[in-house]
Amino acid sequence: MSVTEPIDFGALPKDFAWGTATSAYQIEGAVTEDGRSPSIWDVFSHTPGKTDNDDHGDIACDHYHRWREDIALMKELGTDAYRLSVAWPRVLPGGEGEVNLKGLDFYDRLIDGLLEAGITPSVTVYHWDLPQVLQDRGGWAARDTAHHLAAYASVLAERLGDRVTRWATLNEPLCSAWIGHLEGRMAPGITDLTTAVRAAYHLLLGHGLATEAIRAAAPGARVGIVNNLSTVAPASDSAEDIAAARRMDGHTNRWWLDPVHGRGFPEDMVDIYGVDLPVRDGDLRTIATDLDWLGLNYYFPAVVEDDPDGPAPFARQVDRSHRPRTGMDWEVDASGIESLLLRLTEEYGARELYVTENGSSYPDVIGADGVIDDSERIAYLHDHLAACARAARKGAPLAGYYAWSLLDNYEWAYGYDKRFGLVHVDYGTQRRTVKASGRSYAGIIRAHREARSRTDGAG
Ligand code: IFM
Repeated sequence: MSVTEPIDFGALPKDFAWGTATSAYQIEGAVTEDGRSPSIWDVFSHTPGKTDNDDHGDIACDHYHRWREDIALMKELGTDAYRLSVAWPRVLPGGEGEVNLKGLDFYDRLIDGLLEAGITPSVTVYHWDLPQVLQDRGGWAARDTAHHLAAYASVLAERLGDRVTRWATLNEPLCSAWIGHLEGRMAPGITDLTTAVRAAYHLLLGHGLATEAIRAAAPGARVGIVNNLSTVAPASDSAEDIAAARRMDGHTNRWWLDPVHGRGFPEDMVDIYGVDLPVRDGDLRTIATDLDWLGLNYYFPAVVEDDPDGPAPFARQVDRSHRPRTGMDWEVDASGIESLLLRLTEEYGARELYVTENGSSYPDVIGADGVIDDSERIAYLHDHLAACARAARKGAPLAGYYAWSLLDNYEWAYGYDKRFGLVHVDYGTQRRTVKASGRSYAGIIRAHREARSRTDGAG
């Protein structure tokens, strides 16, 4: 792929946050250390046949011990922002109640280390690693879990809120609910529509409660939610495919955006799922608690056709294998990130937006000289950043971009074969090597800073 369109740096704000993102279970390892209890992902990944090669996160990138080295890598890339998640079972091994100070201390040290390096942390409270003890009590299908999330968020905000301003309650609740409880491809591996809809509801209720809890504990906090969204187009202009695209848009996008923007759950989807929502007085108001920012994780577009005999939402992704695809077999379409940023701006009135994840997995080859010349990832990164700048030029209030991911890491059910890092990890030795894409990202960040100082000088 050739890099074509230059990035319009002038469209990005001067204090644009240039970051990388990771999540706890994908990089930390040390799953039995310092009082951490098992999460649903420990249990799922240790169930034979659930993940590729039966890979699990026991060691992952050993970030729990190597975090200083990893901060040095962030600096080497020139980034000034880092999005991390906290492992709930490290901080509250019982899911609720007694706080495990040793677990909390880890994040305390990590935040201090980031700040000393001039890197602004953005903390995600929940990135899929529910303590198994809570799953045993019903998990996200149980209303109590939403309240436990809020109590856990409050513990984090009380301890870290003097140094962390940017908080996200949830990462990609779509994956927790639909992939974890409907498709069963992720923990906790359930395949039941009623459970999935209840889980979706309680995740969003938990988001609202956690937002309030964070603000109460840390008044300066700026709280948002991170959704993985896709553009959705019909495969043909038939009425059936157009209706299928509308349903897929409801399932993927509107279900997660409408309630937090005070519009309630989309009625067409409530009808399609046919599951009564466990609504109690005041819930919808809580879910719609004002957001300071919205996070967009963008990877691929969806082009769908009608699938009347399939599972809800009765729409199936069509095979467009002639189009460029990543190693995940995900179609590459940078224009999707632009459309979604503009949709969040125009349709949902977003006041501050972050691309909280965007990136690609390709089968990296390490050259004889040790160089990882990942030109496809370089092109993906560049093209998506150019599209972000186009959206900003058209009015999207884009305040930052976090590349997924800093490091190659545990790609959930796909295990370790799928590599998204700007930095290669040799899992045998834990040796880190910055890929060509990491150097390219550093160059982009430098170019933005240079453009900024030129305009500062001119102004
Ligand atoms: O690795 C994941 C991450 O945990 C959530 N968003 C998508 C990434 C790539 O699949």
